[in-house]
Amino acid sequence: MQASDSELTKPAAASSLKSPPRLDGKIALVIGAGQSPGLGLGNGRASALLFAREGASVIAADIDLDSAQETVAMIEREGGTAESYKVDAASDAELDALIRHCMARHKRIDVLQNNVGISVAGGDAQVERLSESVFDHIMAVNLRSCVMACKRVLPVMKAQQSGSIINISSVAAYMQYPWVTYKASKVAMIEFSKQIALQYAADGVRCNVILPGLIDTPMAVDTRARAQGIAREAVAAQRDAQVPLKARMGGAMDVAYAALFLASEEARFITGIAMPVDGGMLARIG
Ligand SMILES: NC(=O)c1ccc[n+]([C@@H]2O[C@H](COP(=O)([O-])OP(=O)(O)OC[C@H]3O[C@@H](n4cnc5c(N)ncnc54)[C@H](O)[C@@H]3O)[C@@H](O)[C@H]2O)c1
Repeated sequence: MQASDSELTKPAAASSLKSPPRLDGKIALVIGAGQSPGLGLGNGRASALLFAREGASVIAADIDLDSAQETVAMIEREGGTAESYKVDAASDAELDALIRHCMARHKRIDVLQNNVGISVAGGDAQVERLSESVFDHIMAVNLRSCVMACKRVLPVMKAQQSGSIINISSVAAYMQYPWVTYKASKVAMIEFSKQIALQYAADGVRCNVILPGLIDTPMAVDTRARAQGIAREAVAAQRDAQVPLKARMGGAMDVAYAALFLASEEARFITGIAMPVDGGMLARIG
């Protein structure tokens, strides 16, 4: 349900200067809410944590159930509400079962974040070395999962006449990025999101896409260090050096705060945008 103008502009009550939680009572489904092994936080886990801190009940779905369960444990330690769910997002049948599960338990879905993404770990390669099976697999995991999750959630949001979809793409869509399957999948997510935004705008369903830049997550840093056989610190230093803003990678919380904004009523007039969270990297290419 959308907040009215008067609700959003209402001054805080004298007795409490604190605003209510930004996702109070909302049901938020994060697909890819675990994280790859390694140091620090992944983007999906960080988003799940913030959504729960702001009052949402979170369904943390991931192919790695233990990792999703870790996210849930972190949320519960903070006093939030979450449950884990095992899903292979590349399977439409499993996504269908996930959405049915959410509806049986919660009767609605207010926020969908499509966070699943693989590249190096999926065997992505430069074009001349790319195999058909790797291409098909990464496309299914990165792009088809996002499309099919939307296919399953949009009828729910349409019936509610409200909802916010947040798709996680990448600045790789617009920059030099030789692993072509990842790049192609992330480009497609942007235009797909704009199409959904327009197609469902009259139903009050918003769809936006975030373009993370170089973020210090286990997938981006530890997976590359393992694949290239070099130290984590060396990978991190190469990435830091490319970022205009203080020559430091961003963190998963930077992506999560953008997602929280797009999920919240504060963004109720925002749909169809592609928001870079990149420390200025895309500004370089105009
Ligand atoms: N880290 C970065 O620098 C960066 C930059 C740009 C974009 N991104 C995007 O952000 C998103 C998250 O990145 P991250 O670095 O936090 O990665 P991550 O690997 O830590 O998180 C992705 C999660 O998706 C899960 N997953 C993978 N395949 C799945 C499948 N088939 N079904 C269900 N779950 C599956 C993984 O188990 C993992 O928990 C990705 O879409 C990525 O492309 C990251």
